[in-house]
Amino acid sequence: MTDYNFNIKEKRPEEIYQNVFEYFKDDQVIKYSTSKSMMKIQEKITLRALEIIKIQPKELVLDAGSGCGFSSIVLRELGFKVISIDIIKHLLNFYQLPEMNPILADICLTPFRNETFRAIISISALQWIYSDLNNINMENNLNNLINSFHRILKPNGKIIFQFYPKTKIIMEKIGSAFKKKDFFEGNFIIDNIKSPKKRKIFLFLKKIT
Ligand SMILES: C[S@@+](CC[C@H](N)C(=O)[O-])C[C@H]1O[C@@H](n2cnc3c(N)ncnc32)[C@H](O)[C@@H]1O
Repeated sequence: MTDYNFNIKEKRPEEIYQNVFEYFKDDQVIKYSTSKSMMKIQEKITLRALEIIKIQPKELVLDAGSGCGFSSIVLRELGFKVISIDIIKHLLNFYQLPEMNPILADICLTPFRNETFRAIISISALQWIYSDLNNINMENNLNNLINSFHRILKPNGKIIFQFYPKTKIIMEKIGSAFKKKDFFEGNFIIDNIKSPKKRKIFLFLKKIT
């Protein structure tokens, strides 16, 4: 893979806060959920993710780390059946959208039956799960997420993540973790690779066993 620089001066929330509960407290839930620019960014990334993953409307899709539903709403409008899962109750319930089918749960331990979903879309959430190479809990969470996503996907099901890895090593560690059990094949797709600010990193995976 081309070498490029991950030197981003501004710290991201997952580098500052100990966990997602510390960050998404009341004020931040309102700030995030009412931000028009955040809504536009999430919409744009979701549309780009759909371009990569190429799935047909009407399929059942899991929006993993759905927040208040910016991505879920796009999916819904395009005709997908969506189930939205997030660990922060106030985000899931912010707009009281029943069509999100909101489920309060950890994406590392998803409460669904085997082979439920044709696809999983996860926009801007994975960096909360794994951001520190030396943190054994994060490593366990990442492994749980991989096992869980594999279990709930139908045969040949697809996953697309967009996320913000802090370093290239972390990014590659995540990529190889998904491949190590021969559960998935896939690759990274990186838009605006040379611009640390505009860069968008996608990990696209297909279930193979
Ligand atoms: C930046 S937000 C993105 C939200 C969403 N994609 C949207 O359209 O607004 C990241 C989301 O990941 C969720 N998240 C982080 N860790 C999680 C976990 N272990 N289980 C479920 N959701 C999680 C956060 O609560 C947050 O809502």
